[in-house]
Amino acid sequence: MELREYIKEIKVGNIPVKHNVFLAPMAGVTDLPFRYICNKYGGVVYSPTEMVSTRGLVYQDKKTHKIMDMYENEKPKVIQIFGSEPDIIKQVVLRLNEDKNIDIIDFNMGCPAPKVVKNGDGSELLKDLDKVEEIIKTLTETSTKPVTIKTRLGYNKDTMTAVKVAKLCEKYGVSMLTVHGRTRDQYYTGIADLEGIKEVKESVSIPVVGNGDVVDVESAKRMFETGVDAIMIGRAAMGNPWIFRSIIEGKEYIPSLEERFNVIREHLDLAVLREREEVAIPKMRKHIAWYFKGLKHSSIARDRINKENTYEGVINILNEYYEMLKREE
Ligand SMILES: Cc1cc2nc3c(=O)[nH]c(=O)nc-3n(C[C@H](O)[C@H](O)[C@H](O)COP(=O)(O)O)c2cc1C
Repeated sequence: MELREYIKEIKVGNIPVKHNVFLAPMAGVTDLPFRYICNKYGGVVYSPTEMVSTRGLVYQDKKTHKIMDMYENEKPKVIQIFGSEPDIIKQVVLRLNEDKNIDIIDFNMGCPAPKVVKNGDGSELLKDLDKVEEIIKTLTETSTKPVTIKTRLGYNKDTMTAVKVAKLCEKYGVSMLTVHGRTRDQYYTGIADLEGIKEVKESVSIPVVGNGDVVDVESAKRMFETGVDAIMIGRAAMGNPWIFRSIIEGKEYIPSLEERFNVIREHLDLAVLREREEVAIPKMRKHIAWYFKGLKHSSIARDRINKENTYEGVINILNEYYEMLKREE
């Protein structure tokens, strides 16, 4: 089958989603400006927020609330939450039920970061399937909106939990399950196990999203061939919001130099409009480094930007670098 034939509308609970190529939630990356850019230039519509702490929400952490901002016309509006205490999760979901700015609640059961697992959250939950069951039950019984879960194949190769988690999802009415084809122990090393994802898909009738190592048209096709209902792309979207367009259209889209730099400037503008320069510029340095990947002499421009703290300074370096590349074209 051609890649184009896999691309279609999908329903998450009662919510229609225009197509089944998703942006993965990434803490420190998928904030509002980046999701907006991925939508505008890649056409992605399903893009959960960075993970939001349920404890942070209950204890009114200001930073936590900022993560929840959605861009105008974001559709659907998907928030990802994480935590491990059912009573706190319940309090948060009761509040989200009242929040008109949220359509779907995604719950994280896969994050391997030490600062997350040390609190018993993220992939640490996979060590205790009774807890997983209690949380899934709490989520679906409390939420008036579709609930989705994101997990890994297991904790380690001896504790493969994804099929069990999938069956719990099905039992309690979870609307969709995303599976990253790695274990917690693997972090981001090795290669995503597509057979493992296929096994999960075949074990349940709820929609399953395949995630891990989709980087281009070919790898997107291989992921769809596992039978999954949708695919989710994380790292390959960094500095490449056009990847979604490539996959949706079935052929690699390469932006011109002019388009690339216009998008960088637009992304930068959005970032500084939303946050103070001291916050926005350091965040944008890493995005700009990703956008520069593969461009000639990029290390020189990158090093200069890494020392620059103002919007004007970064714009000037971008313009100079663009002019230089244009001259060499
Ligand atoms: C910097 C970074 C931050 C991430 N943050 C989250 C997160 O907040 N929530 C989540 O479910 N997964 C998170 N992930 C995992 C991704 O959503 C995704 O599952 C993983 O990167 C594999 O997909 P990929 O191979 O397409 O990158 C993060 C990954 C990276 C690289």
